[in-house]
Amino acid sequence: MTTDTNFKITEASSSRIDNVDLNKPGFGLEFADHMLEMEYRDEKWQQPEIKPYGSIEVTPALNVLHYAQSVFEGTKAYHVDENTINLFRVEKNYERMVRSCERMCIPKVDREVFLEGIKELIKLDHKWVPQNNRNSLYIRPFACAFDPIISARVAEKYRFYIITSPVGSYYDRPVKLTTTQQYVRAVKGGVGAAKTAGNYASSFYPAQQAKKQGFDQVLWLDAEEHKYVEEVGTMNIFFVIDGVLVTPDLRGTILPGVTRDSVIQLAKHWDMPVEERRISIDEVMQAGKDGRLDEVFGAGTAAVVAPVEEVHHDGQSVTFDIDGRGPVGEKFYDAITDIQYGQAEDPFGWITPVDVS
Ligand SMILES: Cc1ncc(COP(=O)(O)O)c(C=O)c1O
Repeated sequence: MTTDTNFKITEASSSRIDNVDLNKPGFGLEFADHMLEMEYRDEKWQQPEIKPYGSIEVTPALNVLHYAQSVFEGTKAYHVDENTINLFRVEKNYERMVRSCERMCIPKVDREVFLEGIKELIKLDHKWVPQNNRNSLYIRPFACAFDPIISARVAEKYRFYIITSPVGSYYDRPVKLTTTQQYVRAVKGGVGAAKTAGNYASSFYPAQQAKKQGFDQVLWLDAEEHKYVEEVGTMNIFFVIDGVLVTPDLRGTILPGVTRDSVIQLAKHWDMPVEERRISIDEVMQAGKDGRLDEVFGAGTAAVVAPVEEVHHDGQSVTFDIDGRGPVGEKFYDAITDIQYGQAEDPFGWITPVDVS
């Protein structure tokens, strides 16, 4: 498959940036001036195009709208100084997208298009990267089926896009989680490890039920026994039990988070005991009752490191009297964001600086 990585670039005639408050951007509400678009037809990806951000016209029969053959990624760009914007572990996002594409029968997007496309967009729209309050520019690459026909089969046409959006923090306070015995997020052999649209669509109803009961998110349990902790809708989960960091291991039903991996690498770097293993919700609740559950936090690109205030399961709750992050979560948050914003050394080679001078 040959892919032409020579981007065709059409710059926006004017910028919309003055309409946006980059100090309070919200999340995913506004989009920067440019986007990347690439078509797949005649069995190959065509020339990638960077052009002004705008609507796309589609037919109501477009198969992705009906059958959800689509994958996406999420990463961020961080303002360092007026000449430099940092990207964080984008190679890992690319690799995950390739795996998601494979699972969803979407032709693989070329590595150069993905990585250089992000860099080109950042160069063009670097003024959209917020400078304050640990805000950032969220980067959303996605690929989806684009056949204009209603037929439940693998498509022949696809589109790949990269759009970007200035964002603030995803959660503005500690989160309350509840398990559910009625619903599951992912099954063995299913698509839980892929970042694909249906995983999110199917989680909305249980999440809505959880919200009605006063919780922010569902803490998913495994589909077979409803016993082992998996993850949260938008982030992976970490428990600190007796000073040991514990997170569910990857068994094909959990999204392998980039932030999860970064937390684990940092813990190992600090000689902090860390275990990737099956952890039952009973173990979590018992540790909570015994006063051995020091802290719970979620980890994800959008949420960064999000403190958990309550874990609710089967009529019982473990609560944490916290205002912000606990000490362990805070240590990870500081270490990760300091590297992202170029305020600490990067011993892991996680950063790709983009020169925007
Ligand atoms: C279901 C789910 N789990 C975990 C994560 C965290 O992954 P990452 O750290 O790569 O953002 C996300 C967010 O991307 C997610 O949507």
